[in-house]
Amino acid sequence: MLKKNYMKKFEGNFVSQLPGDAISIFAVMSKISAEHGALNMSQGFPDFEVSPKLIDRIHYYMKQGHNQYAPMTGVQALNKQISNVVKELHGADYDPQKEINITSGATQAIYTIISAVIKDDDEAIIFEPAYDSYAPSIKLNGGIVKHAQLRMPDYSIDWEEFARMITHRTKLVIINTPHNPTGSIISAEDMQRLGEILRGTDILVLSDEVYEHLIYDDNIHQSVAKFPELAQRSFVVGSFGKTFHATGWKMGFVLAPENLMAEFRKAHQWVVFTVNTPIQYALADYLSEPKNYLTLGSFYQKKRDYFLRKIKKSRFKIVPSSGTYFQVLDYSDISDEGGMDFAVRMIKEFGMASIPLSPFYQDKTETHRLRFCFAKEKETLDKAGEILCQI
Ligand SMILES: Cc1ncc(COP(=O)(O)O)c(C=O)c1O
Repeated sequence: MLKKNYMKKFEGNFVSQLPGDAISIFAVMSKISAEHGALNMSQGFPDFEVSPKLIDRIHYYMKQGHNQYAPMTGVQALNKQISNVVKELHGADYDPQKEINITSGATQAIYTIISAVIKDDDEAIIFEPAYDSYAPSIKLNGGIVKHAQLRMPDYSIDWEEFARMITHRTKLVIINTPHNPTGSIISAEDMQRLGEILRGTDILVLSDEVYEHLIYDDNIHQSVAKFPELAQRSFVVGSFGKTFHATGWKMGFVLAPENLMAEFRKAHQWVVFTVNTPIQYALADYLSEPKNYLTLGSFYQKKRDYFLRKIKKSRFKIVPSSGTYFQVLDYSDISDEGGMDFAVRMIKEFGMASIPLSPFYQDKTETHRLRFCFAKEKETLDKAGEILCQI
């Protein structure tokens, strides 16, 4: 039994490591959405099921007794399959044992890479709008975040600006393609330019490629793994949550050259040590069939195009999305309210939840744009279309 005067609040001195940082915008919008019973197109997760075949494989491996700690590096059958896929798609050779590690989702991979390479006062450059885990992870490890701006209206990279931001303290640059929240992608020319700028420096690259298979309109995913000059200084991050519609499993991986991977593992072993064993075995089986990931681009492109057809008559302006399962819409013809106000009003008045883009900028830059997740069943997209056409 708790004593009546049991203290629920720490009353000593405490200095926050992330002063001013709030709860993630995804959690905020999902909560308001649930409170109002709104259609939730805010957070990035599918509303349809994982393949029963994949679930059966997990069940199978559990019943076979694969229920104890996996090796710290990952179950080798899975590391080998990832190595095969990367070789097939990008022509790059990653050693399953020495250069690939399985992680508890991409978020853990990103945090661990940053904690392995960033120390006090090191600078890390990120591009805004930026996925929201990067900046806090850098700050928690004592680093300084430098924000480069993606150019409006198409979110392309300004390489001149980037080159000007490099100092003797720059340790890391984080890139993300296909890009959350905007759906933009990095081209082969961009990768070459990045390689040229970093040539002769000690700067490392973290390439967040969790939407690697979600790419549209005949575009080809340009992984840093494809560019040997960049690959030798890069950590590549992937997520099975995105690829196999299973965000709740938190399964991901990292690719890196052996000496960088060795540093990653020094941190990884104390963050999580090892991740879910039966799921790793099941993913290895599932990855051995290319159709399980090669069909994702056309699967999601159909969803994107269906959603766009449904909102054709709305007053929202479409910002082209070449990858991810996000579609950015510009509402400047409808309202001049700030993104947060407009998104909350949409939930309360119209029953429709999205994510404003302003929280993806450190100074909350207002662009009158919202992000919608179209990884949804046809019925959800129909309903979304109806609502958006009324606004
Ligand atoms: C760009 C980006 N990176 C990383 C992640 C995190 O992936 P995971 O769920 O595997 O941790 C997400 C998830 O939304 C994302 O959009």
